[in-house]
Amino acid sequence: MSEPINPFPIHGYFGPELFCNRDDERDMLIEAVRNGRNITLFAPRRIGKSALIHHVFHFLHPKWSCIYLDVQESASFKDFTNLFLTSVLNGVKRQKTLFNKVQEWLLSFRPVLSTNPHTGSFEVEIDFKSDAQQQTSIKSAFQLLDSQGPTVIALDEFQHIHSWDEGFAVESWLRSEIQHLKNVRFIFSGSQFHLLTEMFQSAKRPFFASTQPMNIGKIEMERYRIFIGRMFQAHGKAIRTEEIDCILEWADGNTYNVQLLCNRIFSKASKKVEQAMIDESIIEIYAENKLSYFALRNSMSKYQWQVLTAIAIEGMVFAPTARDFLKKYDLGAGPSVLRAMEYLLSRELVYQYYQDDGKKYYQVYDIILMRWLQKR
Ligand SMILES: Nc1ncnc2c1ncn2[C@@H]1O[C@H](COP(=O)(O)OP(=O)(O)O)[C@@H](O)[C@H]1O
Ligand SMILES: [Mg+2]
Repeated sequence: MSEPINPFPIHGYFGPELFCNRDDERDMLIEAVRNGRNITLFAPRRIGKSALIHHVFHFLHPKWSCIYLDVQESASFKDFTNLFLTSVLNGVKRQKTLFNKVQEWLLSFRPVLSTNPHTGSFEVEIDFKSDAQQQTSIKSAFQLLDSQGPTVIALDEFQHIHSWDEGFAVESWLRSEIQHLKNVRFIFSGSQFHLLTEMFQSAKRPFFASTQPMNIGKIEMERYRIFIGRMFQAHGKAIRTEEIDCILEWADGNTYNVQLLCNRIFSKASKKVEQAMIDESIIEIYAENKLSYFALRNSMSKYQWQVLTAIAIEGMVFAPTARDFLKKYDLGAGPSVLRAMEYLLSRELVYQYYQDDGKKYYQVYDIILMRWLQKR
């Protein structure tokens, strides 16, 4: 990817210059991989898991072959197999000898090979006839990589395999294959906390206790503050600490939202950031999302919407059935709130977080939606 003009990209990874901190997380991941431990990376959506994986790859490369795939892009095991082979080919493309080996090996499957004209990446399409054939090809790709040297494979949004019919069988099979590899390490990552913890921490499941869990949180406020100031200054744009704090506060420290707002403000400011530019950017963001929020409102009952709004206004809710909370937002009885919460959690509109001391609380998952509801 070529470097963007705006230093606050809202998609992808553009190298350490445009990446804020995460040094400890990077070092922990590298240390685990180097010492033969597979990792499960948990975090809410848009905190920066995928970008962190690419950041780690940046430092492991070229000693390690680094293969990344987003499991969400595959609708079935067959799709996954093609995506995996595509990712292997792209992952080793800068290692000439290995690349030639992989390419030669792939040709035996009679694939349709193409190049994406926009990204320059290779695409592999093989018309597999059975699950067994797919398993054989993935297994031999693992073995090929294992014989060539250190490799790390990131399976991002891994819990998504359970949206396929064959998900459970693939999970067991993958587990048994992975344990035989000597030089290949895995990073499993995911946003759906319940699904992922169930997969990796339930004694009944094949991956039980086989990986090191790692949870990433928000980027440290102070680090982000310095980073934002530096990015603006490097482009000759002045920004004051109160304005940076206003951005971080609105975005609730959520990486994507911080980036999104900074990206807008950066494009508006020629020499100096003014509060009005922040306000305008926020209004633009609301305007763009408004229609989907109206559609969201129409997709649920009035009461469910009322509970969602109450949680948004409250910000962090520790006890949704507490008398004060019910009374303040006129929510009626505790059991009704619990039913509504269950619904909102299942639709991932509300998320269950843990404080450092282990205390549980609820918050609206999408911070932009939360801010929009607070304003109404
Ligand atoms: N440390 C960081 N510094 C700057 N931008 C980041 C950082 N981590 C993530 N981002 C940006 O934030 C957005 C969300 O990150 P992403 O990795 O896609 O989140 P996740 O995978 O957890 O959903 C992306 O646009 C990414 O470029
Ligand atoms: Mg991601």
